[in-house]
Amino acid sequence: MKKVLAIVLCLVLVLSFAACGSDSSSSSSSSGETIKIGVSMPTKSLQRWNQDGDNIKAQLEAEGYEVDLQYAGDNEIPKQIEQIENMISGGCQVLIIAAIDGESLDVPLAAAKEAGIPVIAYDRLIMNSDAVTYYATFDNTKVGELQGQYIVDALDLENQAGPFNIELFTGDPADNNVNFFFGGALNVLQPYIDSGKLVVKSGQVTKAECATDSWNTEKSQARMENLISAQGYGPNGTKLDAVLSSNDSVANGITNALVAAGYTKDDFPILTGQDCDKTSVKNMLAGTQSMSVFKDTRTLAAQAVKMVKSIIEGEDPEINDTETYDNGTGIIPTFLCDPVACTVDNYTELLIDSGYYTEADIA
Ligand code: BGC
Repeated sequence: MKKVLAIVLCLVLVLSFAACGSDSSSSSSSSGETIKIGVSMPTKSLQRWNQDGDNIKAQLEAEGYEVDLQYAGDNEIPKQIEQIENMISGGCQVLIIAAIDGESLDVPLAAAKEAGIPVIAYDRLIMNSDAVTYYATFDNTKVGELQGQYIVDALDLENQAGPFNIELFTGDPADNNVNFFFGGALNVLQPYIDSGKLVVKSGQVTKAECATDSWNTEKSQARMENLISAQGYGPNGTKLDAVLSSNDSVANGITNALVAAGYTKDDFPILTGQDCDKTSVKNMLAGTQSMSVFKDTRTLAAQAVKMVKSIIEGEDPEINDTETYDNGTGIIPTFLCDPVACTVDNYTELLIDSGYYTEADIA
């Protein structure tokens, strides 16, 4: 009987060690060293990337990984390249990268590939590099379509003859997402521009003409100021009905210019955005910006972390799009998270009840 008990005890011990082993296998290599993950973010100057970086780091650490999180100053490409090179030489086993310029990372990523380090493009696709293994992002076309549809509904373009005046703003031309944001919005708006219900008085309708370098607030403000003076827009001048903006940092510059031109919440043009940055949510509550697109950075971070786990454990990551994102070397297997339109009518549910912000954050 004693012998049987001893055998059972041994078995229990062996099994519990095995279980421990499999628990920690997500965070330790076979040599027992902690696995290090490199996380490269584009800038500290925009709220969302700070949240993305914090969320990814916290979630990776909760899985037992060591994290090398770096921000490339304020969108400094050479800095991002150097930081990625250091992650590779510093022993990171997977890289998560939100590129500043989708075309600028081929050299460091060739080194990653050479070293057998998988690369997850985060939020923004990295172009023309066959080192990109997976892509985790939001449905970027849908972001633009939500913005375009908001304008269509707010102006009731189905029923109103118009014409309504609109100006178009998008983001950094080197950010591959811009093609999808701007393209998605135009999918919805172009038929109304073609039929003359929407009029772009400046005639500036191409991506190049509507771009905002580095998604910079001062730059969008300067362009809006120029449009105001060139077209005579103003509460007592030429009517401006709507402004398409691809994100919140650009929308904030547009808002500054419109407020300076005398617009108030009572006559403010319809204005779109993206990210639900605190400043823009405050502007929505103040009645200037009309909407933003909520992309829950916690969800995207969780998806990227799940990808890392699968890669380290030798499994196939969860993917839900294998058609849309060709980076010039072929289609990159992608996981798309869902963006949601946010207005004063649903911000409580989306932002407060979900714990994304407290009321004090946006007061
Ligand atoms: C992101 C947006 C962000 C913009 C500026 C884009 O690539 O998808 O969420 O507003 O960059 O940082």
